[in-house]
Amino acid sequence: MPAGQARARKLFFSFHNTTLDFQSISVFYPSVTPLLRMSRSILDNALGAVGNTPLIRLDKIAAREGLQCNLLGKLEYTSAGGSVKDRIAKRMVEVAERDGLLKPGHSVVIEPTSGNTGIGLAMACAVKGYSVIITMPNKMSLEKEAALRALGAEVVRTPTEAAWDSPESHIGVAQRLQKEIPGGIILDQYRNVNNPLAHEFTTGPEIVEAVLGTPSTPSKPSSGKVDVLAAGAGTGGTITGLSRAIKKSHNPKAIIVGVDPVGSILALPDSLNVAGAGSQYIVEGIGYDFVPDVLSRETGIVDHWIKSTDEESFEAVRHLMRSEGLLVGGSSGSSLSGVLRWLKSKEGRTIAQTKGANVVVLLPDGIRNYMSKPWFLKMALEAEPSPLAKRISSILQPSSSTVSTDVDRLASGIATLTIPDLDNRPGHAGRRVEF
Ligand SMILES: Cc1ncc(COP(=O)(O)O)c(C=O)c1O
Repeated sequence: MPAGQARARKLFFSFHNTTLDFQSISVFYPSVTPLLRMSRSILDNALGAVGNTPLIRLDKIAAREGLQCNLLGKLEYTSAGGSVKDRIAKRMVEVAERDGLLKPGHSVVIEPTSGNTGIGLAMACAVKGYSVIITMPNKMSLEKEAALRALGAEVVRTPTEAAWDSPESHIGVAQRLQKEIPGGIILDQYRNVNNPLAHEFTTGPEIVEAVLGTPSTPSKPSSGKVDVLAAGAGTGGTITGLSRAIKKSHNPKAIIVGVDPVGSILALPDSLNVAGAGSQYIVEGIGYDFVPDVLSRETGIVDHWIKSTDEESFEAVRHLMRSEGLLVGGSSGSSLSGVLRWLKSKEGRTIAQTKGANVVVLLPDGIRNYMSKPWFLKMALEAEPSPLAKRISSILQPSSSTVSTDVDRLASGIATLTIPDLDNRPGHAGRRVEF
């Protein structure tokens, strides 16, 4: 048995004065195991609640798509800061502290990000007492900026269309600030080895542990291994680290599917990036106009690339919400729609029709980040009225003029509430937020 599997099986828990391994507890006390895992001890601070996210069956979507394999979602929005990027933020800060690069009372953490790494860093720095400046393209949501400011970070917006190596881009502005601000340090998610390592050491082993810890039964068959893993790529740290974790110490034959939006250049072969080259897309967090160092392009790290569109991503988000009850963000829809497309390819069809094959989809963040975005409001408020809507109206309208089931009023109320007057604050004149 490979070392990773053996390690995962050797999780021991003390329960009623008896020492049982995790699999035995799962079999004999299925309802208490989630409780046991969550309540092992008191956490020192929010960073203790980073990661340890659930792996959840997406059975209704699998059935709709005619899949025989298991479709499983790794739900990262349950992490303390709300995304998969909490993991790298925590690791980059802790390693920099260990190496003496971060000094309490002196260091100012500066990071260019599409938002989630910034939120993770701002959370870590709130806990540890460092100042933070986040540079972020205009395209990224108001909710991310609000969360960052609530955590105490300064936020500088940059033009979305600026090329990554121009002085106006989020990367260029962060570099300019770092040169001028005493104690300024860029931990640099695009180059920091602790970005992929966070996933190799935590996200990947958690997925493997969940698969190994779930026995195969006649009603829920399992191959006992991760057969396919799909994830979107931004910096590429997630997919690179996950691939290493799974292929090196669990299943060398696992197939890794990378998802990259049309308009980005991360996919291989390069010919995949020609259609729609340079076009803008709405989904946040994935795709770039340069290849970050942490995205490994070695053969066998990412086996297949799929190009995703906004439309199919948002449609997949709708299914994850409506069918599975999962309040995920846009890039989760990209990963899901990407892997569903791959499962229709020649190689993918064999896996799709194999009972018990485990296909894991990474779901990087939640809808908290996108509540005011038109794509979400449209999906939520223009959804087909449920059969109950008419019944509710007929019961309530004759007796009360204050009760409303009117979707337009709801929509305008939400739009007003979610656009606070931040532009009136000093230093914010001319700031632009794109929707
Ligand atoms: C919402 C979202 N999805 C996906 C990703 C991609 O992760 P990675 O940078 O590890 O490739 C990010 C990265 O910021 C993100 O914020």
